[in-house]
Amino acid sequence: MVKRVGILTAGGDAPGLNAAIRGFGRAAVGEYGIELIGFLDGIRGLAENRFVTLDSSSLSGILTQGGTVLGTSRDKVHRMQVGESEKDMSEKILKVYEKNKLDAIVTLGGGGTAKNALRLQKAGINVVHLPKTIDNDIWGTDNSIGFATALEIATEAVDRLHSTAHSHHRIILVEIMGHRAGWLALGAGIAGGADIILIPEIPYNIEKVVEKIEHRKKLGKHFSVIAVAEGAMDVEYAQRIRIADQLIKDADSPETKALAKHNKDRLTDAHREATFDLARKLETMTGLESRVTILGYVQRGGTPVGADRLLATRLGAAGAAAVADGITGVMIATKGGNAVNVPLEKIAGKVKFVPTDHEWVKTAREVETGLGD
Ligand code: F6P
Repeated sequence: MVKRVGILTAGGDAPGLNAAIRGFGRAAVGEYGIELIGFLDGIRGLAENRFVTLDSSSLSGILTQGGTVLGTSRDKVHRMQVGESEKDMSEKILKVYEKNKLDAIVTLGGGGTAKNALRLQKAGINVVHLPKTIDNDIWGTDNSIGFATALEIATEAVDRLHSTAHSHHRIILVEIMGHRAGWLALGAGIAGGADIILIPEIPYNIEKVVEKIEHRKKLGKHFSVIAVAEGAMDVEYAQRIRIADQLIKDADSPETKALAKHNKDRLTDAHREATFDLARKLETMTGLESRVTILGYVQRGGTPVGADRLLATRLGAAGAAAVADGITGVMIATKGGNAVNVPLEKIAGKVKFVPTDHEWVKTAREVETGLGD
């Protein structure tokens, strides 16, 4: 009999987290008679045993709110910064779990949190994971909570940037989040009618980007809007990253591994301004003034759209049913419109990248959007 459960939100905030807390909570408390506590600030609050009681009154009025009423952090179970050092908090968390007489913990988060969830499960805690991220890159689920809202926001931005681009005859590069995947840039780029979309899964060749802009100029269109995923890279950088990753994989001692990792960090640090570098190059190569707009946290702020509220409520309620049934070690995913349980073992550590033959990629090509290849 499941009596008492803890819930937490971890990783970057995303629209729909509160809707998911509410969906889970209403079903858990109301339907299954479970007592619910919410740990504050993600894995850190769990390790520090900081929580609030969630009852029907505290679960009211949060459906439409952005962010997370529980707070969040990017702390990791096995490597949490405590004072000057990093510590494995698994045992400490197990004690918190036992002290609170919990029967399960529900984690709401992305790929990183799924890894934490699996670690907790292996430490002896019953865990159910709910997928949220605006990046839509969680393996094993069709959609993640937050993506639909971010897609709306980024699409509107691409729309609105067209005004300045065509009025001033400029190239505008709009940098869109997505971490290492291109779902958000591709989706918003298509929906907002970007002329060129650059995503990490399809490394670009700058000559091809210029070709597309010149072609548009010949058609009398002296402007271009380019949707650039934050992880987008040119072919040369993609090759260097592949080599760096291989060197990390092949390292035969902790020292060579640390050195290989350090070298990769230097590479990625130097790439942080890549969208600005690309804008400068395009300005020189095309003669069109170029500007960059970084959408940043605007993309994950504010009230969730209907699709995210619906997804969050569905997965939350399905999560409560799973917990009440004693199902554990799973993520509640959405597959073809149904909520299904996927073992954490199968998804933790994997990233759902955009397949290069994905229907969205084909669509973009069919409507003559340049993909830089
Ligand atoms: O995972 C969501 C996300 O917004 C990514 O798109 C982005 O790369 C990252 O989080 C930014 O993280 P932070 O909040 O740590 O700056």
